Amino acid sequence: MMLRTQTRWILIASLISIVGCSEQESAIPGTAVEVSVSSASSGTTKGLDYEFYKESIEPIFIRYRGGFVGSDTACVACHTVQANAPLGLVPLTQENGEVFWTEEQSRQNFENVAMLVNPSDPETSRLLLAPLSPIVGGERHSGGIFWNSTDHSEYRLMAEWIQSGNPSATADPIVDVDFEFFRSCVQPIFVNPIENAMPCTECHSGVFAIPPPANAYWTEDQSRLAFEELIYLIDPGRPDSSRFLHKPLHPNAGGDLMHNGGRRWYSKDDPERQALASWIRGESAGDQCPSALQFENPPRS
Ligand code: HEC
Ligand code: HEC
Repeated sequence: MMLRTQTRWILIASLISIVGCSEQESAIPGTAVEVSVSSASSGTTKGLDYEFYKESIEPIFIRYRGGFVGSDTACVACHTVQANAPLGLVPLTQENGEVFWTEEQSRQNFENVAMLVNPSDPETSRLLLAPLSPIVGGERHSGGIFWNSTDHSEYRLMAEWIQSGNPSATADPIVDVDFEFFRSCVQPIFVNPIENAMPCTECHSGVFAIPPPANAYWTEDQSRLAFEELIYLIDPGRPDSSRFLHKPLHPNAGGDLMHNGGRRWYSKDDPERQALASWIRGESAGDQCPSALQFENPPRS
């Protein structure tokens, strides 16, 4: 089920459409078109080998896996900038019936993907941990489990590529998203709907939007639970690739194409959203809330 002799490119723009079809890895077309990139062909991002990336790593992201649900889906189906999950692949180019990344696009992918790897300690790379089963040391991943073991050929290729990097290049710093600020300033959003909207607690009460006790503030434990859930929807340091800020944003302002819960922000400049963005960048901490995040409800005793 894992390896197919067929590769198809899946493009999620507004709808899912399967377009090309070819022998595995034999043709990632379109590479000859862009010539503006400097003559040094190997990239220098963390010392990682660009040619290796282009030849062997990038095709993994578009590999057809047989379906449209979870780990049957190609990585790119969930991981374009538009879908806003980390990894930050750019949407594929479609031209003359073919779907591919141009040279320039591949270079951009390369830089984004490089942010998720740690050549100084390859096994701790987020790129390796997300698709790997938690049973063998992987991390929880909304996209599902792709590799049941570190012997999987895709895992091994990626590990090899990461090892090609500069051994003193480390992981990008993990930004600390402050819990106290969440508890004091962010959590009340979930029970304070904008006009004509339902509170988030109506639909997300089982996860991040746990309702508070009647006429009281959330207990510390309730806030912890909610925070642990919400953190999966946040990409620390990168507000724009955080689903929490993306889903409730109107599509005309760059938000998700779909949210069954409606919209809370109609612009990226919305002061509330900006205050949240600054928190996600690690710039806001503590219980002193900026004016955009001051709520009466629920009552604090
Ligand atoms: C069905 C959708 C889906 C598919 C398919 C998918 N992912 Fe994901 N992935 C997500 C979502 C959503 C997140 C963000 C939330 C999370 O970390 O679970 C994510 C997070 C990640 C992260 C960041 C984890 C971190 O440390 O924050 C990496 C790396 C990643 N995915 C790699 C991959 C790779 C590689 C593939 C293909 C082999 C893949 N994903 C397939 C949905 C998907
Ligand atoms: C009327 C029900 C409803 C309300 C109210 C609602 N949502 Fe949602 N939300 C959904 C549903 C259903 C989904 C999953 C399908 C989708 O993406 O639309 C979802 C998905 C999400 C996701 C992505 C979750 C994931 O696992 O990837 C986020 C983030 C989110 N909502 C945030 C919010 C926030 C913040 C609020 C309040 C401002 C809110 N929602 C209000 C129904 C709702």
